[in-house]
Amino acid sequence: MAKASPPNVFKAYLEQFQKDFSLFLRLRSEEIIQGGRVVLTFIGRSIDDPRSKDCCLYWELLAKSLLDLAAKGLVVEADIHTFNLPYYNPYEGEVREIIKMEGSFDIDKLETFSINWDANDDISNKDFVFEKDQCGRNVANIVRAVAEPMLVSHFGDDIIDELFKRYAEYVGNDFNTVFKSLPFFCEKFGKEKRDLCGQHYFITGVPGSFYHRLFPSKSLHFFHSSYSLHWLSKVPEGISNNKGNIYMAKASPPDVFKAYLEQFQKDFSLFLSLRSEEIIQGGSVVLTFIGRSIDDPRSKDCCLYWDLLAKSLLDLAAKVKTDIDTFNLPYYNPYEGEVREIIEMEGSFDIDKLETFAINWDANDDISNKDFVFEKDQCGRNVANIVRAVAEPMLVSHFGDDIMDELFKRYAEYVGEYLCVEKTKHINIVLTMTKKVKSE
Ligand SMILES: C[S@@+](CC[C@H](N)C(=O)[O-])C[C@H]1O[C@@H](n2cnc3c(N)ncnc32)[C@H](O)[C@@H]1O
Repeated sequence: MAKASPPNVFKAYLEQFQKDFSLFLRLRSEEIIQGGRVVLTFIGRSIDDPRSKDCCLYWELLAKSLLDLAAKGLVVEADIHTFNLPYYNPYEGEVREIIKMEGSFDIDKLETFSINWDANDDISNKDFVFEKDQCGRNVANIVRAVAEPMLVSHFGDDIIDELFKRYAEYVGNDFNTVFKSLPFFCEKFGKEKRDLCGQHYFITGVPGSFYHRLFPSKSLHFFHSSYSLHWLSKVPEGISNNKGNIYMAKASPPDVFKAYLEQFQKDFSLFLSLRSEEIIQGGSVVLTFIGRSIDDPRSKDCCLYWDLLAKSLLDLAAKVKTDIDTFNLPYYNPYEGEVREIIEMEGSFDIDKLETFAINWDANDDISNKDFVFEKDQCGRNVANIVRAVAEPMLVSHFGDDIMDELFKRYAEYVGEYLCVEKTKHINIVLTMTKKVKSE
């Protein structure tokens, strides 16, 4: 909305806000207990007239900047006409009216307060000196942080630096990837299960490690971890003598095996005690992670997978910037007896069932895949791709990324050759547990 916008634009924005805010109130009213409380803070305007400075100026200046770029031929002017922000800063009277109309909540208090566009220009900041260019940049940075994705999706990203006279690298991360995949997941799941995302289940993201608290006390009925608990919280200490290896290996000194086991005992025990705080009495846990089939950690189950990677690294020793001897994986694939013992010692859970099952290193080589034909090079590459997906970030941060292509090419060859001799398998442990009922 801008001073010069036609009247129907103001009407359309207000109506959209009425619909959205009303829906928001209704959805929250389903979720909040009777007598429960709500506190909301959002941007509004100080007077009823949406043509006021409060309402429009912030974005009018951005529109003006875009028009400047159009004048320079960097933006197509017609594109500016089709771009509008999904944003509304209401007058308090509008907010009151919607809350009243929707009917689920009583307003206890509604106040407005103002902060300067440049938040550094604050009474508590005694050092603040107004400096036109710096203050302009401060405000532009805030607007950029908020509006950049919308602008990029409409105008492309070539113009963004120019538009804000600023640059900041947009970095995608694990969480972004997971969240970006959710709409696809919801659509697929919705079709298969005739269920709509958000109607029968809710997806939430909790940042943090499972070696720290993740959820409020006694808030979970069920906890599941899939294929993750073989990752330790850190590389065990005191294994600098594990020369030429990157994990426990047949030739590792005995104290390396001891250090790995002790780290797993500490980590898994901590995991159990943290989850036991979060899970209600009688709540259930299902865990799946990689293990080994026999007690002896020198067994093939345990070491071979990573032994072949160490061998590939040693082949490239001349090209490797950093010492292989100082690289070890924060990983442990326990024997089921070790897992049982830790659960018993920690004492919060009863094991209901613990089973192991095997899957081939090359997961395509599966009984359900009738078309599978063993082909040494292809199978080697399949396995190498999986290991690369898992281990590459750790390897890159130690060895740099120059050697990665060659490293995994060699690894694929070693794996392919080995698979000709023997079909190798990962051993997986799956277990269910129940939180013990304790008198408090
Ligand atoms: C092989 S993936 C499994 C992903 C997924 N759970 C599945 O079953 O398809 C292992 C995952 O464990 C996560 N992970 C490893 N250590 C973790 C920790 N301490 N806390 C939380 N997640 C961890 C990694 O980020 C990775 O996403």
